Amino acid sequence: MQQPDKQGHEENQLTLVLIKPDALKLSLTGYILSQLSETHTRLRFAGAKIVHVSRRLAEEHYAEHRGKPFYPALIHYIMGKSHYPDQPHRRRVIALVYSGPNAVNTVRNLAGPTNPHQAREIAPGTIRALGTVVPIKDAEGRIISERLDNLIHASATPEEAEREIKLWFAPTDIMPFMRIYPTDYAEEHYYLSPEGLTASWKPGYRCVIAAGDLVWKSDLEALHLWRQGKPTPISLDTVIAKYLINTEQTPAE
Ligand code: RTP
Ligand code: MG
Repeated sequence: MQQPDKQGHEENQLTLVLIKPDALKLSLTGYILSQLSETHTRLRFAGAKIVHVSRRLAEEHYAEHRGKPFYPALIHYIMGKSHYPDQPHRRRVIALVYSGPNAVNTVRNLAGPTNPHQAREIAPGTIRALGTVVPIKDAEGRIISERLDNLIHASATPEEAEREIKLWFAPTDIMPFMRIYPTDYAEEHYYLSPEGLTASWKPGYRCVIAAGDLVWKSDLEALHLWRQGKPTPISLDTVIAKYLINTEQTPAE
């Protein structure tokens, strides 16, 4: 629980919520939004967008799970492929940033335990208690893991919230008064070519950042290091994934 400061104010936090494809398919969006409403939580919307999740974005969001048995299923789940295999136009998540005192723990507590079975047992009434657990099988049909369709993502710590919000939202997607991470204006252009990031445009390349764009300062610092051929503290894919959100349909895989 967060301590109030000397003036009795609790520190303002931001947290990321994703309303996942299963929640959209089950029409639980309204229920989840009302659970998170300001009357219940004292939290306010700072940003909101509907996102068609690219593989690059999914893989960056769940980078910590890379290599685990449930990882491929998890990526398909968040991309909407599990719930809308034949309807790519319906694959989307609702990404929200909430702002307010103790935002991270408040939303985590409403979300409940990661595993919906556990949520039903130890935290009935939480959002994830309405989720589903789907067995993951290998080629021989043996169960090797589980896909936890738990309806909602909620940042686990303020540090995770910063990483995740900067992955899903550009600064201009968030109300200026509610941004708490440093921003700066880009002074150079960055494009995506089939070979990766590049500084000069050719037909077919997509613009990631243009000079004059308002961007997260941490993205610019990483790009400056990349230009100098130095290692970057964050993956460049986190930068590319965010600024290209909703620019294209995911190819059929
Ligand atoms: P989230 O990030 O989605 O809010 O969930 P979380 O913090 O409670 O759990 P985390 O460990 O970050 O896992 C992220 C998502 O990966 C799937 N997962 N499956 N089969 C498994 O053992 C397992 N563990 C994690 C879940 O969908 C989880 O939400
Ligand atoms: Mg997590």
